[in-house]
Amino acid sequence: MDLSKYKNLRFFVPNLNSLACKCVALTVIALVLRAVFLPRFCSFRGIEPNNSFAFNKPFRIYSEFHSRNSKFLEVPQIVWGLNNQKIALARACLTARLLNRTLLMPSLSASLFYKEIDKLEPISFHKVFQFEKFNSLCKGFVQLARHSEISNRSNVFELQKGTGRRWTIEKDLDQLRQLSSNHYDDYEVIRITGKNPFLWHDHWPVEDYSTVFQCLVLVEDISRQADKVISKIRQIGLQENHNISTGYVAVHMRIEEDWMIHCKKMQQRSNISEICSSKDEIMERVTNIVGLKKPVAIYIAVADNLLEDKTLLSGWNEGLLPFTKKKLGVVELYEKQPYLIQSAIDYEVCLRSNVFVGNSFSTFSSLVVLDRTQKMINIGVGKLCGIDVMWPSYAYNLLGKSKGPRPWATNMSDSSLNAVSYGTNHISCL
Ligand SMILES: *[C@@H]1O[C@H](CO)[C@@H](O)[C@H](O)[C@H]1NC(C)=O
Ligand SMILES: *[C@@H]1O[C@H](CO)[C@@H](O)[C@H](O)[C@H]1NC(C)=O
Ligand SMILES: *[C@@H]1O[C@H](CO)[C@@H](O)[C@H](O)[C@H]1NC(C)=O
Ligand SMILES: *[C@@H]1O[C@H](CO)[C@@H](O)[C@H](O)[C@H]1NC(C)=O
Ligand SMILES: *[C@@H]1O[C@H](CO)[C@@H](O)[C@H](O)[C@H]1NC(C)=O
Ligand SMILES: *[C@@H]1O[C@H](CO)[C@@H](O)[C@H](O)[C@H]1NC(C)=O
Repeated sequence: MDLSKYKNLRFFVPNLNSLACKCVALTVIALVLRAVFLPRFCSFRGIEPNNSFAFNKPFRIYSEFHSRNSKFLEVPQIVWGLNNQKIALARACLTARLLNRTLLMPSLSASLFYKEIDKLEPISFHKVFQFEKFNSLCKGFVQLARHSEISNRSNVFELQKGTGRRWTIEKDLDQLRQLSSNHYDDYEVIRITGKNPFLWHDHWPVEDYSTVFQCLVLVEDISRQADKVISKIRQIGLQENHNISTGYVAVHMRIEEDWMIHCKKMQQRSNISEICSSKDEIMERVTNIVGLKKPVAIYIAVADNLLEDKTLLSGWNEGLLPFTKKKLGVVELYEKQPYLIQSAIDYEVCLRSNVFVGNSFSTFSSLVVLDRTQKMINIGVGKLCGIDVMWPSYAYNLLGKSKGPRPWATNMSDSSLNAVSYGTNHISCL
């Protein structure tokens, strides 16, 4: 495959916005068509009168949702790593949708701490993602509001969310459903409190999460930083080898020590041997990607504590030119930013890569692949696996053809996010 042919795609230029709009429009059209041509699903609601909200419905009609402008949902500060925060944020949105309420712009956390509350460094949603863009892309699905829109701050119903092992997914869902009864209509704000890194359980299909993720567009200042990193990868690659393809491969390498301990435990517990991959295995599999045009630049995305590790750059086969943040000279650009923004930049660099290679047991990798898969579906691509698709992805922990990594796409029909993000080796490509 000639990667260079993709270099002019609008996806790779800083302005993602108009494409995103079109994508949403196309998704809506596709969903409406599905709804029209699959009438058997329309009787769904008739069979289950209790199920008046769009749980696990195989399609969405956006106009079904009428967020009442004057009714709000407030959620606790969202914490932990970028991916946990995105998942929790989507969950808050989907809860607001369930309650026909507008979600008050939540507070995210700029630092990685979770338990030490004083170090959480709250950062408002709109400092990371574009607020108005979110509302325009997610119109009819879910809406965000500013806290200043509340008219009566004492008209609040506060709900403490349950936790612990005995707080089952069914209890959790029941509690949320009860909130949607008329009884709570008089409250302007429903404020949910409690402490859980993901807010609460996963009650929604992958498609619903994906819809919310598609509305999250980084603020320009952050996406400009990602642009800088990406153009560095291309420039420095060209300086080193004039024959290099203008595209790049991003490899999300999970090889840091605490991950290795964690993944070996997972391997034992789940009796699955394909979770951990050594650096050598990753390098070998990337080399063997069927159809990868070489020479090509490799962007190595690693955890912070490996930034100084010089061995990351050695051992790559000829034709693969590895780059770390240090070699690109972008360490400073990252260090100026808090933890959350650093991850957001790295996520963007992986998302926009021509080829992405990650670990199917990593949430970061899984969300990148989900995003890439959704973008291909949005533009109407039928085939999702292999090097000749628009944005190919691979799982290096799973063995594919010719000793390469296995092609990877997200199964959008999965009924829960668990299946695609908390670790799995079902990656819907063969
Ligand atoms: C909802 O379903 C339960 C049992 O599944 C039933 O007892 C209840 O009456 C139903 N409520 C409504 C409003 O249909
Ligand atoms: C605000 O809400 C409280 C509690 O519902 C209510 O008692 C009070 O009258 C409201 N104030 C105004 C100005 O509506
Ligand atoms: C949400 O709004 C729709 C349309 O107005 C309505 O049919 C539905 O009953 C509402 N649900 C709740 C929980 O208020
Ligand atoms: C670039 O390609 C040409 C023709 O294939 C080859 O002769 C040359 O050695 C290559 N240069 C590098 C730096 O690989
Ligand atoms: C683990 O998997 C292997 C092969 O897949 C199987 O032979 C073995 O019985 C399994 N062990 C347990 C404890 O499930
Ligand atoms: C995707 O998920 C659905 C629902 O779990 C399942 O029926 C289907 O077989 C999966 N498709 C692939 C390709 O894994």
